[in-house]
Amino acid sequence: MKIAILGTGNLGYSIALGLLSQSDFKLKNLYLTKRNITSLESWSKLPNIKISTDNKKAVRFSDVIILAVQPKHLSGVLNEIKDLINPKRHTIISVVTGRKILEIEKMLGMEVAIVRGMPNTAISVGQSMTCLSANKLGKNNIEFAKTIFNSLGKTMCIEESLMQSATVICASGIAFWMRLIRATAQGAVQLGFHAEEAQELAVQTCLGAASLLVKSGNHPEQEIDKVTTPSGCTIEGLNEMEHQGLSSSIIRGLVASFEKINQI
Ligand SMILES: NC(=O)c1ccc[n+]([C@@H]2O[C@H](COP(=O)([O-])OP(=O)(O)OC[C@H]3O[C@@H](n4cnc5c(N)ncnc54)[C@H](OP(=O)(O)O)[C@@H]3O)[C@@H](O)[C@H]2O)c1
Repeated sequence: MKIAILGTGNLGYSIALGLLSQSDFKLKNLYLTKRNITSLESWSKLPNIKISTDNKKAVRFSDVIILAVQPKHLSGVLNEIKDLINPKRHTIISVVTGRKILEIEKMLGMEVAIVRGMPNTAISVGQSMTCLSANKLGKNNIEFAKTIFNSLGKTMCIEESLMQSATVICASGIAFWMRLIRATAQGAVQLGFHAEEAQELAVQTCLGAASLLVKSGNHPEQEIDKVTTPSGCTIEGLNEMEHQGLSSSIIRGLVASFEKINQI
């Protein structure tokens, strides 16, 4: 398998790390491009890895092209490579935020296999929740895209019409969860812990809660029932949070974020 990553910035770099950790497919060549390649120089010593500023060369030598540039750079990159795209050979995987498959097809002026991916920043620690959708041709290759992103967390295949919703829940979701963790840590400081201890307590408890659901497959309320003694302190705190609008404010925040993303 010959793969090119066009735009090896934060996300492209993480994807490259994920690809290198994959033993499910044979990586023959990995082309990494960016405009200034100084930050990638250490990679050029690795076998089968080529570093370049030349997107055209990368496309010529690859079967799979991963687009990981900022949205404002996408049309320039596609213009540069479109004459070299061969629909019989190439599969395009785009992780460019907000750019629809149809837009990419239009910019390329052809129908080619395209998979669109929406990872989140936890991809850099191999814990992304990545949503994938594909056009008709891309559906044949979606398993391959899943293999890549499964090496960097979890994947879910969704209809492209749900991509904005997925962006709110999973990409913006990182920020929402960070705030919940921060609020817990602030409470922990008020209850007597030093800031670093407070953060450790909040983060590990959050990880533990998520792991309980992942391992058991239970509904959150089943786990809540296990820790809410009748007339106890947990239900007291939980109900006070709900009186103050905890669930409601989260849902309203998600909807506000969704409304905003649809205006951008
Ligand atoms: N970071 C995430 O976790 C995340 C999550 C979901 C989606 N995304 C999306 O993924 C894309 C990349 O995000 P990022 O955070 O990795 O951005 P980034 O760090 O800015 O990386 C973009 C890279 O593209 C390179 N580039 C710009 N023009 C180019 C060209 N003509 N040819 C080749 N390379 C070029 C830049 O190279 P130079 O540095 O040399 O200029 C830069 O390294 C964005 O569309 C973003 O919205 C990111």
